[in-house]
Amino acid sequence: MNWVPEAASSFAGKVDGVLWFVTVLSIVFFILITVLLIYFSFKYKRKTENDYTPYITGNQTLEIIWTVIPSILLFVIFAYGLIVYKEMRTPPGDAVEVNVTAKQWIWIFKYQNGKSTINELFVQHNRPVKMVMRADDVLHSFFVPAFRVKQDLVPGMYTQLWFNPTKIGTYDLFCAEYCGTGHSQMLAKVYVMSPEAFSRWEKGDEEETTTFASTKSPEELGKDMYSKNGCAACHSIDGSAGVGPTFKALYGKNESLQDGTTIEVDENYLRESILIPQAKVVQGFAPSMPSFKGILTDEEIDALIAYIKSLK
Ligand code: CUA
Repeated sequence: MNWVPEAASSFAGKVDGVLWFVTVLSIVFFILITVLLIYFSFKYKRKTENDYTPYITGNQTLEIIWTVIPSILLFVIFAYGLIVYKEMRTPPGDAVEVNVTAKQWIWIFKYQNGKSTINELFVQHNRPVKMVMRADDVLHSFFVPAFRVKQDLVPGMYTQLWFNPTKIGTYDLFCAEYCGTGHSQMLAKVYVMSPEAFSRWEKGDEEETTTFASTKSPEELGKDMYSKNGCAACHSIDGSAGVGPTFKALYGKNESLQDGTTIEVDENYLRESILIPQAKVVQGFAPSMPSFKGILTDEEIDALIAYIKSLK
């Protein structure tokens, strides 16, 4: 049975160690206390009408034992926890930095080579990475269970976290702080890649990882972009209402804008809305969409538009 998530970082074993230590200790004491409680309640049961409780004023030996032993145990729990915590809060000097921005309801990652990705974090196997994180709007929380790391992102300040991924694979990243309607969809994937695959990705060979597998039609590609970039958090594809207008039958529709004018939804309007979302906001919706300028390439925007057009 899997009691804890997969262990995929250098912290996993240590965090689990502290967890199990405290858990097993608690279970041992729970059993000890419960068994004694039941045993004593039979042993010291009043047996006759004139069976008086003896008058006991104190027992120094017992009192010392039940003060000293728990104190030592508490100190051990504290020290053990502190040692692991200290390591988790101290990134090694050679850690690679990744800038993380959280906003309703996407994750944006910026790397030292200038690349940036949405809802996909690429890291190299066995190479420590440090996340320098901030929030654009409200509190969010960066949580990767397989790495045993969790840290809040706070508007107006930087927080940080580091880890060393020890297992190649794909892991879930959750937002672990309720941040509004799209919170439950604020999900990302962490890709732990071999050094070779990672340097291919770093050099910009997109085929390796994301967008341009040439076998895909623009529509299919757009569909990938839709789910990868967090569009789904706000824009439904089935006509249901969301934080933003639904994509179903959006293309060609006449939308009333907040300034009272109307506009026919065409390629130019879609493109503008992706790059400068606040330019023409549809009536009844808050201007809360983040700009995807510098995040999506022209080809990716083309693909998204093709996908939106296909949703009739
Ligand atoms: Cu971001 Cu919950």
